[in-house]
Amino acid sequence: MKASPFRVLLVGCGKMGSALLAGWIERGLKPESIAVVEPEAANAEAARRLGVAVAADIGRIPQGFAPEMVVIALKPQSTDTGVPAYRPFAEQGAAFLSIAAGRPIAYFERLLGPRAQVLRAMPNTPAAVHRGITVVTANARADASARARTETLLGAVGTVEWVDDESLIDAVTAVSGSGPAYVFLLAECLAEAGRASGLPAPLADRLARATVSGSGELLHRASESPETLRQNVTSPGGTTAAALGVLMAEDGLKPLLIRAVAAATRRSRELAG
Ligand SMILES: NC(=O)c1ccc[n+]([C@@H]2O[C@H](COP(=O)([O-])OP(=O)(O)OC[C@H]3O[C@@H](n4cnc5c(N)ncnc54)[C@H](OP(=O)(O)O)[C@@H]3O)[C@@H](O)[C@H]2O)c1
Repeated sequence: MKASPFRVLLVGCGKMGSALLAGWIERGLKPESIAVVEPEAANAEAARRLGVAVAADIGRIPQGFAPEMVVIALKPQSTDTGVPAYRPFAEQGAAFLSIAAGRPIAYFERLLGPRAQVLRAMPNTPAAVHRGITVVTANARADASARARTETLLGAVGTVEWVDDESLIDAVTAVSGSGPAYVFLLAECLAEAGRASGLPAPLADRLARATVSGSGELLHRASESPETLRQNVTSPGGTTAAALGVLMAEDGLKPLLIRAVAAATRRSRELAG
């Protein structure tokens, strides 16, 4: 499904909003078809440098700018006050794509009215290097155009997956939304383990960083499963096998990650209320 040209209003241009905006421009969306609402001066200036119209609030967006898509990239704590002003766009048929964690579709339907087309997405921070993965779910009113445009907007910063069941978003948040933090922690722990084995700290840091990022790239490019890639670097009786004996023990990494992801899933449900 390919989206024909459309206008998009980005509400909130912080870390995630600016990553999206940069991806859109690189993907060839015309700057004149994009408007941004962003009150914070430095973020606004960065967006302006990409050639798009930037307003500090909804009252100052270019007159007559009628978006087909409104992207909500506000912090969840800002949505109660930040979103209702955009209801007229929903009433004019614009579709709303939210990336706010823990804010369900029903929440936006309450703020935007019963006819609103609402799509809810969970991106992750590798979006900043166009290697994100975003999972999207939509209400029944979101039409084919809204879905195609969403695919275009989110596809500009990585891979897009769709789910019908919104309740899966809590587990998605726990795996891919929070997941980059687990990988960064792995790099921290590997560096710490290197120091504990006698390596100078700066060298341990460099080794851990390059190993995690290089392995990520290898996984990205390879067609083999992670399991096969792991087996490929494990000789029987060798050093890797010795370490994996610890990591893959009954109380090793797998049960730990299962508990961690379950805790994040529970927390996501709690935050959604
Ligand atoms: N970062 C992630 O890893 C990640 C992953 C998945 C989902 N998300 C979701 O993405 C959303 C945005 O996160 P972020 O990290 O990009 O946050 P952020 O950097 O704080 O960006 C939000 C921006 O919106 C601005 N803003 C506040 N009120 C506004 C209003 N009424 N109208 C327009 N703009 C307004 C903020 O300005 P001020 O600073 O002046 O308030 C800020 O620049 C969150 O809901 C988060 O749950 C983030």
